[in-house]
This record gives sequence, structure tokens and C-alpha cells, in this order.
Amino acid sequence: MKIIAIETSCDDTGIAILKQDKKIKVLADFLSSQNDIHATYGGIHPSIAKREHAKNIFSVFFSALKKAHLLKKGTTKIHPETEIILERYPELLEKLKDFFTKYEKPDLQKIAVTVGPGLEPCLYVGINFAKAIALNWDLPLIPVNHLEAHILVNFIEKKEENIFPALALILSGGNTKMFLIEEIGKYKELGSTRDDAIGECFDKAARLLNLPYPGGIEIAKRAKKVKKSQFKLPRPMLHSNDYDFSFSGLKTALFYELKGKTLDKNEVNEMCFEIENAIKEVVVKKTERAIKEFPLNSILIGGGVSSNKSIQKALKDLAKKNKLKLLIPKYTTDNAVMIGVSAILSPKLNLCDKLKANSNLNLND
Ligand code: KG4
Repeated sequence: MKIIAIETSCDDTGIAILKQDKKIKVLADFLSSQNDIHATYGGIHPSIAKREHAKNIFSVFFSALKKAHLLKKGTTKIHPETEIILERYPELLEKLKDFFTKYEKPDLQKIAVTVGPGLEPCLYVGINFAKAIALNWDLPLIPVNHLEAHILVNFIEKKEENIFPALALILSGGNTKMFLIEEIGKYKELGSTRDDAIGECFDKAARLLNLPYPGGIEIAKRAKKVKKSQFKLPRPMLHSNDYDFSFSGLKTALFYELKGKTLDKNEVNEMCFEIENAIKEVVVKKTERAIKEFPLNSILIGGGVSSNKSIQKALKDLAKKNKLKLLIPKYTTDNAVMIGVSAILSPKLNLCDKLKANSNLNLND
């Protein structure tokens, strides 16, 4: 079985093709990143992100089919509804129609697409593109929850034994969530951020320090250059009696700390070290709390911030101390491979024409 997966929930246009035998194999994995475009705003601009998805999705799709050796010369009879589905993206519609006059249905059995959470206009580019393909190639269309995908991608290479019950941490640019997994498909949310997401905090802090977007990578790079910091920032909600996070206070504290000052290079490095430490300590403390409260076999992490080496090391130490497994995925930042993996491991109903974006989709929706 071969599946094509589409991800457009935020600022990355991703398309992957996976093959499922006994194992899941990645045949193609393409991503068009908009980082350079959004860098000028220091964050993601939704209408620009939508426009870029519509502009780039076809070439990402074509590259993925080519890489997976699935382009087959011939024709696909164009379904008249294609025009309606893609009417908001006229250039994309033309490219797809032209493609259908040159290529026939490839050896694909399913389509998977992210339906939420994410930026609604962006989600709809992926959903409508997926609908058009599903209709013309008569393929089932599987909706995928982006959060679930960030965690299930941990299982792409091997099916580990005795993973559940597990604690999952989603640490990304748009989400900060902790939840318990009883088994795949059975989730209980423990907590989430009350304001900024963890990656958003890294990005906003970097902006205050005049560092480029995405800020998390820049802060991590500079934090590594020092071993201590003269600065002290708050650890918001460190001792709160719950699993919620709050990161906007950290950004505000940084704003006041920087007011009227010009930091030299070493001071910037020390500030980055302090920002990373403040964020890390909160994540570790909340994780430790969950370990004490719930019987667990493992900790699974996912999302762009989970690629942070300092946070990974702290969680590794914590897992080791508590004799728990820690699973760190190869695919941390947004990608389409995880969407395909999630559709394979936790398939939802084929909803094709009823499919809707849900920017606030919850794990059990
Ligand atoms: O999961 P992701 O690709 O997409 C969104 O949800 O947007 O995460 C992107 C986020 C950005 O905020 C970026 O600054 C952060 O992940 N990030 C990092 C690192 N690499 C990416 N944050 C801290 N340390 C890193 N090494």
C-alpha cells in the first residue's frame, strides 16, 4: 500500500509518499519552507503563508511523485468538480489540470491530509488540493490530526514494545501540550499553554534580541557557546499545581531586561543560555510531576522545539533516572512523513467531500 501525505498547517508545504509493508518506508519526502519569507515579520503571517502554499504545493507534489517513481505518462479524466474545489487557487487549478492531461493515476492507494490544528487558510490549501486529487484518482482521503502525527512519527522505524502508558510532550511553534496515551487513539490531555506556545516564545525572544527567524535554532546555537549566564529570567508556572504552561511572561521579562541596554556578543550568548534554561526547567519540572503522578512506561516527544539538544539531554537524564524509555523522533519539525505515518497507524474515516479544516482540533476529536 502506498500513501501520499500532505501537510500545510503552518508555514511548511510538505508532501511525502510512504509505502507500508511490514515496515513503513519513506519513498519521497519534500518540504518547501517559507522561513525566509516570514523572517521579515519575525513570525508567521497567515495570508502570506496561504498564498505561498498555493504557489508551491504543485511543485512539491510533482517532485514527490517523481522521486517515488510514480509519474506515469497518460491522462487522467478531469472531474468537473475540480474547478469548484480549486476555484480560489486559479494558478494551482491550471497546473493540476495540465498535469492530468499528461499523467495517469499512479500506483497510490490513499491520500492523507492535515485537517488541524493549524492556520485555517493554510489548512484549506492542503485539504482542497487533496480533495481534488482524491476525486480525480478515486482514492480514499484520510484526515489527520497534526498533534497526533507529531507523536506517532516516533513509531516510523520500529514498533517498540511496552511503550504505553506513555506521556507525550508536543513542543512546537504553535502548540505546547502534555497528554497521556493509554494506547494509540486513546489520549487524555493534561495541560497546555495558556498563552504563547513554546516555540513562539523562542521566536519572540529571538526577535527581541534581533536574531533571525526561526528563533529557537538561533537561541540554541548561541546558548551552546557559554556555560553560565549573568542574567536571570522567571520560570513561569514552575510550581503551579497543574500541567499548564505560560510563556508570555518570560518574553515580557526579557523585554524589560533588555530595555535601555545594548548587549555585546557574549552577553547575547548568555541571554540565550538563560532563555533556553528557563524554558527547559519548566518543561522538565512538569514532566517530572507527571512521572510522579501517573504510572508510565515511556515519554514521547515531538514538534520543532523537541529537536533542541539541551532539552533532549535534560529529558534523557530524567527518563533514565526514572527507568523510562524516551522516544525522540527523527522528524521533529513540521513534515508530511508524520502525516502519512499517522494515517497508517491511527486511520480515521474517509471523509472526502465532507472534510473541513479545524484550526482548534483536539486530540480526541
Ligand atoms: O513543529 P514546528 O516545525 O512547527 C510549528 O508548529 O510552527 O516548530 C517550529 C518551531 C519554531 O518556533 C522554532 O523556533 C522551533 O520550533 N525550533 C527550536 C529548535 N528548532 C526549531 N526551538 C528550540 N531549539 C531548537 N533547536
